[in-house]
Amino acid sequence: MTPSIQSADATISIRAVRKTYSLAGSVSPSKTGKKTGPRDVEALRGVDLEIREPGFYAVMGRSGSGKSSLLHLLAGLDRPDTGEIIVGGCAVHSMKENELVKYRRREIGVIFQQFNLLTTLDALANTILPGVLDGRPTKELETRGREILGELGLSDRLHHRPEALSGGEQQRVAIARALLFSPPVILADEPTGNLDSTSSAALWRLLEETASKRKMIVLMVTHEAIAASHCQRTFILKDGRVAGEFESHGLDPSQLAHRSSELARTA
Ligand SMILES: Nc1ncnc2c1ncn2[C@@H]1O[C@H](COP(=O)(O)OP(=O)(O)OP(=O)(O)O)[C@@H](O)[C@H]1O
Ligand SMILES: [Mg+2]
Repeated sequence: MTPSIQSADATISIRAVRKTYSLAGSVSPSKTGKKTGPRDVEALRGVDLEIREPGFYAVMGRSGSGKSSLLHLLAGLDRPDTGEIIVGGCAVHSMKENELVKYRRREIGVIFQQFNLLTTLDALANTILPGVLDGRPTKELETRGREILGELGLSDRLHHRPEALSGGEQQRVAIARALLFSPPVILADEPTGNLDSTSSAALWRLLEETASKRKMIVLMVTHEAIAASHCQRTFILKDGRVAGEFESHGLDPSQLAHRSSELARTA
């Protein structure tokens, strides 16, 4: 099955992105130019980030620094107040709602910490769900689903429901679902947060391999330096801005942790 939107080059360009969450429910202050109130949270305060080549990339930063907020905007689940987000050929910041729906289904794969699998569906049905929602023919989808699950070592788990799968297996189903349309970009928010260290290591290797074999960008939020040491580049977020970035592949995890906490402290 070929994706119906021909996936554009794997690139991400984020310019001057701001996002304020208004707990009072009013229009976001950074959109109106008004001053922020005491109940507003400036989650992103001018993020600039460029990725020009496929590969495996990490985003690190303290809790509350804006990592998940940034991924939400990239995934088209929310909109920036100001600034530009361009993924491949898509200007995500200015898409209409119906375009965003297609973008989310076809151009982006998202993997969350909680897997987000439907408990009533087996591994194969969970994997092909985005295609079913997109109105694709079931036969084609099933062939594609079997193929991807096979590549991820789950050929003998096609008809297991999530409750009958280990955490690592569930996470691989979530990856298979994200790969269904071969999107140019995969976003992962702490994908190994619920896994033991052996399953986590297997998952990083798999994401690294996926990025290089399929020429995709895999952008992963992580707290773990060892995870970032599998990534070619690591971006550090601090107080809603990118405080710095560095080449991280193969770095000793303790060195990497030191470098990222220095950036998060001083930048
Ligand atoms: N929907 C929302 N409404 C209000 N505030 C929000 C919302 N989403 C995030 N925030 C706030 O924005 C800030 C950034 O949150 P975000 O979830 O992006 O942090 P994070 O870096 O992912 O943290 P963690 O490492 O703990 O997951 C936090 O102060 C958070 O409370
Ligand atoms: Mg988060």
